[in-house]
Amino acid sequence: MVDETKGWIGVIGQLVWRNWITLFGSSLTTVSAGATAVFTAMGIAGVPFSPYIGILAYVLLPGVFVLGLLLIPLGAYVDRRRRRASNIAEPAHINLDFNSPRIRRLAVVVGMLTLVNFTIISGASYEAAVYMESTQFCGQVCHTVMEPEFTAHLDSPHSQVKCVECHIGPGLPSLIHAKLNGLNQVYGVLTGSYEAPILAPVHAMVDAELTCGECHNPEMDLGDILRVTTDYSPDEENTPLKSVFLLHVGGRGSPQAGIHSWHLAPDREVFFYSPDEKREEISYIKVEEGDGESVEYFADGFEIDPAGIPEEGLRRMDCTDCHNRATHIFKLPGVAMNEALTDGRIDTSLPSIKMIGVEVLEAAVAAEEEGEDALGFISSRIKKYYENNYEKVVKDEGETLDTAIAAVQDIYRRNIFPKMNIGWGEYPIHIGHTQFDGCFRCHDDGHASRDGERVISQSCTICHNVIAWQEENPDILEVLGVQ
Ligand code: HEC
Ligand code: HEC
Ligand code: HEC
Ligand code: HEC
Ligand code: HEC
Repeated sequence: MVDETKGWIGVIGQLVWRNWITLFGSSLTTVSAGATAVFTAMGIAGVPFSPYIGILAYVLLPGVFVLGLLLIPLGAYVDRRRRRASNIAEPAHINLDFNSPRIRRLAVVVGMLTLVNFTIISGASYEAAVYMESTQFCGQVCHTVMEPEFTAHLDSPHSQVKCVECHIGPGLPSLIHAKLNGLNQVYGVLTGSYEAPILAPVHAMVDAELTCGECHNPEMDLGDILRVTTDYSPDEENTPLKSVFLLHVGGRGSPQAGIHSWHLAPDREVFFYSPDEKREEISYIKVEEGDGESVEYFADGFEIDPAGIPEEGLRRMDCTDCHNRATHIFKLPGVAMNEALTDGRIDTSLPSIKMIGVEVLEAAVAAEEEGEDALGFISSRIKKYYENNYEKVVKDEGETLDTAIAAVQDIYRRNIFPKMNIGWGEYPIHIGHTQFDGCFRCHDDGHASRDGERVISQSCTICHNVIAWQEENPDILEVLGVQ
């Protein structure tokens, strides 16, 4: 009961004392509603946020808002129980007589407030959903942990594809699965109990045909793809050697033999078993054809009883068993240097730059482990090399040399992440076979059926025709008019 003799401050004080829960709830709601509305409007207008502001705006504030809303009726409930318990008279019941203008006005106000609340909540949850699907959220919130994948993603052919488009399959079940998995990961980051480097392959990924297939039609016949690669030699001239080859890719259902033609053929399923976590060694393969026929292949000298392989140990091969580095492409020093020389980030006229670049990149990892600053190490080592061997370059080509040093440092920054224990070659690339085993994990002429009749072939021409191999000026390029 409000005591009329206490003046208005006393009255408010008494109200707060009596039902502070409701009052606290309304304050939370009002403040967070205002702030959420401002952030949501900014989000819709496309104002960029830092990841932490993003979490505050789209996750914490709306949470506080809903908490406030819940506290309001809770306060009223607690208040009523207390009144009943201490026999304080209930305030007179409001008579909901819609003929009364007062009640009608009240109804309109309540209705409008509900509408406003509803708008704020739905706006905020929409923005929260969009935000949590963004590459920024996935890549930068857990900065150290995801930095390698985020960085590699930025300059890949898939830089425009959001993390969730490959990592979360379509449909509600995979979304829920991913969010639960995500919570687990957030917990790991907060408690520091994550693996460094993060384990690959990612066992929980959905069938790649559902994710990759959203954009790349597996039915498509890609035919033969022409590849030209340039490998700069470790000599003074950085002599460029070119290889030209025609990859027989084909497509599902294509009558022509080829990589996709065979591996993506309709009704064919390839299962394999790998005794190591990273699937680098493959000891058993089973191919099931639609007509019920199946063939088993065993690695040379690997005695295995297929019946002894647990169900979950058998992996159904999909796109990512070949294209495992579709976007997180970590390069080896030689490959990265070749690319920088080809696209002009490093001037090919600098004597022996290929050789010294690769050498310094390899040595920098060990130097950093010993506590040295890797980028400083790269710069001083390369400078010293030219001072000792090519003084003229240091004097006349200082700027070209500095540009090259910066490019070599970039290669290091882009591929090496000591905090996550990622050095050169931590994540092998399974496409091809020249840098890592890749296709040769199976195609080594050493995996055969028990009777020896079927062998997984290493014959060069089933996958490609090598038209030129490490030549300075392959004739074929002139014929084709390719530089
Ligand atoms: C084009 C598809 C694609 C996109 C886009 C993508 N990933 Fe991946 N991601 C993969 C594949 C494929 C793997 C490797 C799966 C395997 O080997 O099991 C992977 C693996 C990973 C791994 C495990 C460690 C590793 O390097 O294998 C992490 C962490 C990861 N991704 C995070 C991200 C983040 C963060 C983003 C967004 C910045 C992202 N991914 C975007 C396809 C993608
Ligand atoms: C949201 C659409 C999308 C998804 C999902 C997607 N890709 Fe792509 N992919 C693209 C685009 C766009 C390109 C770039 C085409 C270009 O630049 O020529 C590309 C390029 C590629 C290339 C050629 C790369 C190169 O070096 O030029 C391969 C191979 C590829 N994707 C495989 C995959 C695989 C495997 C997956 C699943 C793990 C996948 N993609 C998921 C859209 C997608
Ligand atoms: C047996 C291994 C293998 C499997 C499985 C496989 N691919 Fe490929 N794919 C290749 C090879 C090898 C190439 C040749 C080009 C290259 O080296 O990137 C290629 C080429 C491509 C290209 C064209 C790249 C370009 O340079 O234009 C796309 C896109 C692609 N694959 C998508 C897929 C998708 C999607 C799937 C799953 C449905 C898949 N691949 C399954 C090995 C495979
Ligand atoms: C998990 C094992 C495995 C891996 C890894 C694998 N393959 Fe295969 N591949 C097979 C099997 C099994 C066959 C069928 C062999 C036979 O004819 O008995 C096959 C057949 C093929 C064929 C058809 C051969 C023919 O005679 O026409 C091509 C082409 C091919 N693979 C390309 C590739 C390429 C390219 C890669 C790497 C990007 C690759 N494969 C990786 C298991 C594998
Ligand atoms: C099972 C399929 C397969 C077989 C068998 C195979 N290759 Fe390849 N090879 C590939 C693929 C796929 C690539 C391209 C990788 C890429 O896209 O970077 C490649 C790339 C190459 C390259 C180019 C490397 C570069 O980047 O310059 C050479 C050279 C090569 N192969 C030689 C051979 C020789 C020689 C044989 C026979 C002993 C052979 N390959 C057998 C699949 C195969």
